[in-house]
Amino acid sequence: MQISPSILSADFANLESELARIANADWAHVDVMDGHFVPNLTLGLPIVEALARVSPIPLDCHLMIEDPDRWAPQYAEAGGSSVTFHVEAAADPRAVARSIRAAGARSGMAVKPGTSFAPYEDLLPDLDMVLVMTVEPGFGGQSFMADQMPKVTQVREAVRRLGGEVWVQVDGGVSAATIEQCAEAGADVFVAGSAVYGAEDAAAAVDELRALATRHQH
Ligand code: DX5
Ligand code: ZN
Repeated sequence: MQISPSILSADFANLESELARIANADWAHVDVMDGHFVPNLTLGLPIVEALARVSPIPLDCHLMIEDPDRWAPQYAEAGGSSVTFHVEAAADPRAVARSIRAAGARSGMAVKPGTSFAPYEDLLPDLDMVLVMTVEPGFGGQSFMADQMPKVTQVREAVRRLGGEVWVQVDGGVSAATIEQCAEAGADVFVAGSAVYGAEDAAAAVDELRALATRHQH
């Protein structure tokens, strides 16, 4: 059970110290938005490179951008230890997944709430993680979509059936109130932005979330 706090809810003027606040987490989740795939703009390659130089934990890059076929491997080269692209944006999802691995990172594929996973099941051998979005991508602090839990279970079952070591991540509205149902459904990597960075003690929030998820370890 791994926790990946999203720095989208951190203080962007002090990212190094904001990363230090979550040094007990498993990953630092970095939301890359291009103002096209989603209606918001955050940060890109130079910032990821800078974060990789100072982060005490590995970077989990979530690319909400057009043309991941071109850009995804560059995020691995920039220092992302895990790079997740959106299948809706990819021209050739299998090639993207392979190019991420070839560049030395774990490959992740994300699906928006309206996208079903079933058509992409045969990509699992080329993936290390599937991200099931539990909000519409674009902004932090939105409400958790419990109706995505059946999809989490579908992904988990497909992974079991095919026998790979693929992680199942949830992102959006994950908090102490919602993480247990995600774990119960089959998730094992949990992104949390406002629930961690909105807390007085971010590290304590990470530990609390991990403890809640671990109760439901399958
Ligand atoms: C949303 C991002 C999330 C976001 C989560 O598009 O992908 O990672 O930061 O924030 P919370 O946990 O506040 O919903
Ligand atoms: Zn994200």
